[in-house]
Amino acid sequence: MIPLAKTGGLGDVCGALPVALEEVGCDCIAFLPAYRSALKSSLAVETTDIAFTIPIAGRNVACRLLKTKLPGSNVVVYLIDQPQYFERDGLYADRQGEYRDNCERYSFFCRASMQAIETLGIKPNIVHCHDWQTGLVPAYIHARLGNYSWMNDVATVMTIHNLAYQGRFWHLDMPLTGLDWKYFNWEQLEYYGDLNLMKSGIVFADRVTTVSPTYAKEITRPEHGCGLDALLARRGTDLIGIVNGVDYQQWDPSTDQLLAAKYDQASWATGKAACKLALQQELGLPERSDVPLIGIVSRLAGQKGWDLILPLLRHWLTHRDVQWAILGTGDKNYENELRDMAVSNPTKLGLRLDFSEKIAHAIEAGSDMFLMPSRYEPCGLNQLYSLKYGTVPVVHATGGLADTVIHASEETLQQGIATGFSFNDYSVVGLERALNEALDFYLHRRRQWAQIVETGMRNDWSWKNSAQRYKEIYLETLQNRRRY
Ligand code: ADP
Ligand code: GLC
Repeated sequence: MIPLAKTGGLGDVCGALPVALEEVGCDCIAFLPAYRSALKSSLAVETTDIAFTIPIAGRNVACRLLKTKLPGSNVVVYLIDQPQYFERDGLYADRQGEYRDNCERYSFFCRASMQAIETLGIKPNIVHCHDWQTGLVPAYIHARLGNYSWMNDVATVMTIHNLAYQGRFWHLDMPLTGLDWKYFNWEQLEYYGDLNLMKSGIVFADRVTTVSPTYAKEITRPEHGCGLDALLARRGTDLIGIVNGVDYQQWDPSTDQLLAAKYDQASWATGKAACKLALQQELGLPERSDVPLIGIVSRLAGQKGWDLILPLLRHWLTHRDVQWAILGTGDKNYENELRDMAVSNPTKLGLRLDFSEKIAHAIEAGSDMFLMPSRYEPCGLNQLYSLKYGTVPVVHATGGLADTVIHASEETLQQGIATGFSFNDYSVVGLERALNEALDFYLHRRRQWAQIVETGMRNDWSWKNSAQRYKEIYLETLQNRRRY
């Protein structure tokens, strides 16, 4: 939940959606673990006098509530302050890997949030849960764990941001959840002998949403269903895809304080040229305006298409007059390979193996095109930022990428709707074809290139429409709650 905590797009969404919901008339209160990054963030955090204990595995674990507000809104965020669980370097993992007590940490977080709702006297209509970390909440409400009176009238919505991360733990973590073993069966919390928190959310929530219509379809099939496709297919029309929005307060080149030059639809050519130069300087690349510059900002994870990017990059660095600006952290093998390539090709590859908002913005603005050949992509935010920044996205047509980038064909150009380049066959050949097409336009068809840039910049991916859609779903869910 930016600006309190972020590892990827979930942070952007959770920081922006409640504010957008407030703007369409919903009254939102949010709960988040008091992560170290939240305590150190730019927001003022107040203490409250609310403290309680939660029984977990025969112990009573104490916590207290802290309080802050999302900027520019009245959305109160309660931080569940339990330093042993949450005041750590990472959110879910550190350099040594995943925290081993994640099941305990997030069972605690879910239960403490529910206790907080009770103690604060909140009477929610809807509890909206995000990803596996909160997947136990719909089960707790179903089981009436804690017996809180607000549970009788509440409906639940579970949003899947990425089905590949399921919160899967060994079966002997079951007692940590506080739920009866009777829920540990193949139709509820059990999954191939393990406990699965995402499955818990999918089974027990009144509605399940995910972050694009195409991904909503894809996860009902084995290829992208991560073993939960049959379960998701069974939810039928209860499974809904809503594309994420963009927080244009943070991501708008005409107001972005992090850029070397600000620009808009009328001034993009000069503005982007200045940002490109600044980016080349920052990354130590030769300062050339004529060379195409391809940007990537991405977690270094298999999902993001590195198995296509790396072989292509290896070849292109020696054979093509193209510059690359790459920002990412993650998998050590990818990091090592990229580092080697950057050392051997300092004039073509500008690399930062780091997590940096500033460089992320600089790449979005200073690149000519943005590459996102994800193997799968529930929604994806960077292609939406790229559209706004006049940086033409080149994407694999999957999930949210397929829903938000319109491939430039003669037909879509004529209709004036083309915004980027995409490929369907997930292969290096497919990727190379799409990149070559983009480069052909960039180098030789400048008028159409400008049209693509400007069409993308005009697209409106603000949160307003998506927030309105969530509100409709909340209202509809309240009327048609599942009765167990
Ligand atoms: P995902 O959540 O799968 O990583 P998204 O495209 O939805 O993908 O969101 C990624 C978010 O994380 C974007 O806001 C992007 O700018 C940011 N991001 C990813 N890697 C980095 C990095 N190394 N430095 C700064 N921001 C990053
Ligand atoms: C996940 C997905 C990404 C999505 C983000 C926010 O991290 O990988 O596609 O944009 O969540 O919903």
